[in-house]
Amino acid sequence: MPDQAEPLRQLVKASTRDRGAGAARLVAVASGKGGVGKSNIVLNLALALADYGNSIAIIDGDLGFSNLDILLGLCPKYGLQDVMDNRIELADALTEGPRGISFVSGGGETLLENQSDWQLRRLVEQLAEISGQFDRIFIDFGAGFGRHTAELIGLCDELLLVTTPEPTALADAYTLLKLVLQSGGTPRTRLLVNRTDSVTAGMDASRKLQFVVRQFLRLDMELLGYLLEDAAVQRAVAKQHPFVLSEPHSLATRCVVQIAKNALCDQPLQPNVRHGIGALLRRFTT
Ligand SMILES: Nc1ncnc2c1ncn2[C@@H]1O[C@H](COP(=O)(O)OP(=O)(O)OP(=O)(O)O)[C@@H](O)[C@H]1O
Ligand SMILES: [Mg+2]
Repeated sequence: MPDQAEPLRQLVKASTRDRGAGAARLVAVASGKGGVGKSNIVLNLALALADYGNSIAIIDGDLGFSNLDILLGLCPKYGLQDVMDNRIELADALTEGPRGISFVSGGGETLLENQSDWQLRRLVEQLAEISGQFDRIFIDFGAGFGRHTAELIGLCDELLLVTTPEPTALADAYTLLKLVLQSGGTPRTRLLVNRTDSVTAGMDASRKLQFVVRQFLRLDMELLGYLLEDAAVQRAVAKQHPFVLSEPHSLATRCVVQIAKNALCDQPLQPNVRHGIGALLRRFTT
C-alpha cells in the first residue's frame, strides 16, 4: 500500500526525468507589464522546487535592472553582462543561493535587447554549457522587449507568463504573447496569476486571458497557478530574504508550493527540434 510520502517521491522522480534526457528544461519568465512579480515568483518558485530535489539555475535576463541579488541579499562578483562580454564563463559566474539553487544576476547597464549578435551567441553557447547540470533553468526576462527577446522567449521550452488580474496587465500579457508568436516561436505557455485577492478572481482573470488567446492567437494556454496578494512578499523584499524561507506558513508560500507541485507533475520534456537549447543554438550560432 502506498505510504503518505509516495506522492512526494513521485514528484521528485518526475522532476529529474528532464535532466536524464541531457538538457535542462529552459523556462522563460515574462510578463508584458512590468512590476507584476516575475522576479519574486521565479526566486521563490526555484526555492520551492529545490525543496523537492530539483536542481535549478536562475538567469537574471533583466540586465540593466537586475534584482535577484537584492532579493537574496547577496552581492555576487560577476553578472550576466560579464558572461556575455566574454569576461567569465557562465558556470563560474553562477553563485550558490539558499537550498543549493544557482543564480546569476544581470549586472549590466543596458537591456538584453540591446546586446549585439555575438553577445547573444555567447549567451546561448554558455547556456548550452551548463544545461546538463540542471533540471530547470529559468530566465527572468525583465523590462524591455524587442525582436531578440521575442525570439529567445519563443525558442525556450516553456513560457511562464506572469500577470496580475488588472486589465492593463492582462492586455500587456496578451500583447507579449502575440509578439512572441509573430517572431515565429510557439513556446508552450503556462499562465501564472499573481496578486489576486481571491481564488475566484484569479480564475476569472485566467479564463478571460485564455479565452482571447485561444480566440485570436489560436493558442491553448494552461493555468499553472495563482498567487494571492500577501504582505509577506513585501516584507521579504524589505528583509532581502525570500518569503518561502522567511515565512514558510504564509499564504504566498502555500501558493508557491502548490505552483511548484503543479510544475513537477508535468510530463517530462519531449525531444523537440523547435524548442529548447538545441533550437537556440541553431538560431543564434549557425
Ligand atoms: N503576491 C504579492 N503580494 C503582495 N505584493 C506583491 C506580490 N507579488 C509582488 N508584489 C509586490 O510587487 C513588487 C514587484 O515585484 P517584482 O520585482 O517581483 O516584479 P517584476 O515583475 O519582477 O518587476 P520588473 O518588471 O521590474 O522586473 C514586489 O516588490 C512586491 O512589493
Ligand atoms: Mg524583475
